Amino acid sequence: MKKYIIVVLSLLLYAPSPLAAQEISKKTLIVYYSQSGKNELIAEHLGSKIENSAVKKITLKEEISFGSLIFKHLVRSDLEIEEIDVKEYDTIIISTPIWLQILALPTKVFIESADFKGKEVYAFITCGGYYGFAESLEEWIAEQGAEVKGLFVIQVGGKTDEDIKKEISMHMKDTALLK
Ligand SMILES: Cc1cc2nc3c(=O)[nH]c(=O)nc-3n(C[C@H](O)[C@H](O)[C@H](O)COP(=O)(O)O)c2cc1C
Repeated sequence: MKKYIIVVLSLLLYAPSPLAAQEISKKTLIVYYSQSGKNELIAEHLGSKIENSAVKKITLKEEISFGSLIFKHLVRSDLEIEEIDVKEYDTIIISTPIWLQILALPTKVFIESADFKGKEVYAFITCGGYYGFAESLEEWIAEQGAEVKGLFVIQVGGKTDEDIKKEISMHMKDTALLK
């Protein structure tokens, strides 16, 4: 009898809980835009730390010069980007630079075209030194139906890649996402 009790107790202790199984099967998509590599670093770092994740870069449909892109960014003109399908993911993490104190245009276009209904969204915003963000990113994301779980500003100017990675891990440590 004692033997049976021990077996049953062991099974109860070591069987994965349904909640844990649910967490493991959740999928995360990390979407980034980057010109000089910092947001790529952030996205790849997150991808290496989050189970069941994929990393996708926002790319333009047509290649244009950086000068033309900045002009379009300034006048907030239309811009065509390759479609990024977020359907199969539960959590979306966006990583994006600030240009001239507003959200980089390719990321703005991505957010406005995405359906975040029922998804949890985190956003990382990088800036050189001064974050003068006039637009409300949090509101925009929420308008696409998401629950905004975290919005973090990372000042990348003067920081090493290792400093940036540490900062990311610090911001995400209380989420259930990190391995
Ligand atoms: C055209 C342009 C405008 C920028 N404007 C700002 C700004 O207003 N404030 C700021 O702190 N950083 C500014 N930066 C710095 C970027 O935010 C920084 O280079 C970016 O976050 C790095 O990301 P990336 O390496 O992924 O492109 C600007 C950079 C560029 C290229």
